[in-house]
Amino acid sequence: MKSYYITTAIDYANGSPHLGHAYEKVITDVIARYHRQLGENVYFLTGLDEHGQKVQQTAEKLNLEPQVLCDQIADEFQNLWKKLSISNDDYLRTTQERHKKVVAEILQNLFEKDEIYLADYKGYYSVRVEQFVQTREMVDGKWPSEYGEVVEVIEKNYFFKLSKYQAWLIDYIKNNDEFIFPKFRQKQVLEFLKEPINDLCISRPKKRLSWGIPLPFDTNYVTYVWFDALINYITGAGYESDNFKDLWPADCHVIGKDILVPPHAVYWPIMLKACDIPLPISLLAHGWWLTSGEKMSKSTGEIVDPIQLIDQYGPDAFRYFVTREMNIGQDSEFSLQLFMSRYNSDLANDLGNLVSRFLNMSKRYCESIVPKAEIEEEPEADIKNLWSKTKSEYCELCDGFQFHQALDRTFTFIREINRYIEIRSPWKLAKSEENTDRKILETTLATIGESLRLSAALLYPIMPNISTQIYQLVGIEKIGLMNEELAWSNCLEGNSVAEKAILFPKK
Ligand code: ME8
Ligand code: MG
Repeated sequence: MKSYYITTAIDYANGSPHLGHAYEKVITDVIARYHRQLGENVYFLTGLDEHGQKVQQTAEKLNLEPQVLCDQIADEFQNLWKKLSISNDDYLRTTQERHKKVVAEILQNLFEKDEIYLADYKGYYSVRVEQFVQTREMVDGKWPSEYGEVVEVIEKNYFFKLSKYQAWLIDYIKNNDEFIFPKFRQKQVLEFLKEPINDLCISRPKKRLSWGIPLPFDTNYVTYVWFDALINYITGAGYESDNFKDLWPADCHVIGKDILVPPHAVYWPIMLKACDIPLPISLLAHGWWLTSGEKMSKSTGEIVDPIQLIDQYGPDAFRYFVTREMNIGQDSEFSLQLFMSRYNSDLANDLGNLVSRFLNMSKRYCESIVPKAEIEEEPEADIKNLWSKTKSEYCELCDGFQFHQALDRTFTFIREINRYIEIRSPWKLAKSEENTDRKILETTLATIGESLRLSAALLYPIMPNISTQIYQLVGIEKIGLMNEELAWSNCLEGNSVAEKAILFPKK
């Protein structure tokens, strides 16, 4: 069976990572881990976008060679991904030889097929978004502020024949409902495609921009950074190697909504089509993290540093917060207050307390050995029923990328375990001399332990460290695949459990 191939956007090497970059890598990691738990072979690619005017300018300002800047930034990003337990299989940097080779091959191929031509160009360019912009985008005679400085450019350049594929692309999108997610973004793309699109200028004269991949057929030019960057997805899949068949087409390109139109939903499918390479199965466009109502961004200042949050609350709390709080296609305002409230109420209270209570009671009443569940009365039947509902809803929601809701269901289940403890009140049962009360007490502890283990299995893609830790606290070294782990069982019976643990210290 073909592997599940998932990618993220490759970040610009012109500044430090912020919450927005970290969010994207976390949700991609959640999807990758979820698919691994389903037993699929998963290949997860992320990386760094190193060429272009923006990186060249930043390097000049810092008085560094662009490559030196990129090396520093690559370290910074990769350290963060490690800290966040991002399980990428590869890290692609667009300055790597393997990538330059594929870009040159694609360009040469398109040039020979007459898909690329030389012409005069006159127009406007925004360095901040690394795109040519059109005067019809001006509002009241001004460029939209997200474009930053816009400069006029007059020069000879190479063009890729984008427009001849416009009708084909419209048809393709209309006939492939799963290509763009969320669905409402499909409309936005089709709206964009209602106006005629221009051919894409894919070159920059070396005298204006030297930091790029030279065009193989004219070394006075370097390749436009978006044309170079998009190709990373096939380089990473081992284009023209035996691996490629196993990985391509990509199952999911995870990107932010700002780079859906036109790069990923227009340039990329047309580039692939012109090269006779199959299109990716889906583009998942997530929303933005906002601060004071504005997109958090390197160029506008108000940013949240993920490292501070991770150092203070741990990687899994960070992963939990961003996955739980953001409805994947929508924007979300970041606030520390909200973060603290999720941390204290969901993680420290509902989950963390449950774990300490279970370990405590096991020690006090059962010498830290999980007993046998010998009876089943209404409270046990209720929790088992809720489990089977939770499990199937969880999988359905994850399949539809609704992780915030999948977590909501999981925590509803966790709160029900806490309620079950109150209903059974083991501390009362422990005082009784009756044999049946002893059996109920043992059943109660076994039921709590099993429900806790099952919750940890659901949490694994989102909180891999905490989930593994919970498994280990109840005497299981490693977590297995979902089809084994999600069945209600008595697999904990007889296990020695830890004496105590504080998973989320109160802050
Ligand atoms: O666009 N909230 O790089 P980039 C959520 N190199 N996501 C955000 C965000 C925010 N506030 N800010 C940025 C690029 N992102 C190109 C990509 S792919 C072939 C080339 C997301 O560093 C953004 O939407 O500006 C994008 O998906 C990713 O971070 C990298 O942004
Ligand atoms: Mg950006």
